[in-house]
Order: sequence, then structure tokens, then C-alpha cells
Amino acid sequence: MTAKSSPTIDTGLSKTERADVARELTKVLADSFAVYLKTHGYHWNVRGPEFFTLHTLLEQQYREIWEALDLLAERIRALGELAPQGQTAFANLTSIKDGDPEKDAPAMLKELMKDHETLIATARAALAAADKEGDDVSVDLLTQRLAAHEKAAWMLRASLGGR
Ligand SMILES: [Fe+2]
Repeated sequence: MTAKSSPTIDTGLSKTERADVARELTKVLADSFAVYLKTHGYHWNVRGPEFFTLHTLLEQQYREIWEALDLLAERIRALGELAPQGQTAFANLTSIKDGDPEKDAPAMLKELMKDHETLIATARAALAAADKEGDDVSVDLLTQRLAAHEKAAWMLRASLGGR
């Protein structure tokens, strides 16, 4: 299809508004992908007397994030922008580091808890941008992401004996 015949987007949000929100959603997507990868890796490598409980908890958490990755990427597409693709693109978009399989279980949980908190800050900033641009659909999606990550952080914190 040529540029001349490309369909335009008329959803009530300007191109700038859509691009601003998509940029913020891309950061949330990249942080989410990093936390997904780490959670799945720790699901495999966690060790200790609480193995089965933690293995199961981490599976529940990585599955939840996996579903969300698709929703975030597809929201970016609905806003008319392209979703990032490939390991390098994702790595360049996040400050969350890879996990370390040598860590003991409490260190893994603490690291994941901190990563969820980082992701919560990214999602909160994205939500503020979406709200400012009047993008209610992204506000709704990001509100759900905040709820999920606050819950995940609580479960990791409680597993470490915190309140
Ligand atoms: Fe598994």
C-alpha cells in the first residue's frame, strides 16, 4: 500500500497525543518484559526449603505479566505507533538488569520486589501522561498494571516476612 492511500487515524486523539502516550507505554512494556524474563528465570532456578511454594508463586506472576505484554504492545499499535521488537531493542529501553541464577531465594525475591517497584514508578509516570493526553483506554490499562504489580510486590514482600 502506498503512502498516498495509507488510511489515517481519527480516534479523537492527535498524532502528538498518541505518540506521547505510546512512548510511555513502550517504557512500561520494556520494564515488564525484563521483569517477566527475570521472574521466569527465578521460577526455574529458585532453591531451598520453600522451593515448591516459590516456584508456584513465580509461575503465577510470570504468566500474569506475559498476558500483559501483549495488551501493552497492542495498545501501542492501536495508538498508531510500532511496538519494539527484539532483545536489543528491549534491552535499550529498560534499566532493569538481568537476574542472577546463583542468588539464594531471599535475594531473588528481594530483587524482584524492587523491580516491581521500579516498574510501578514507570507505570505511574505513563498513567499521568495518558491522563494528561485524555487517553482513557491507556489510563484504564495502566491502572490495571499498577494493581497487578502492587499485588506482586506485596506477595514477594510478605514471602520475605515483611508487611
Ligand atoms: Fe515451569
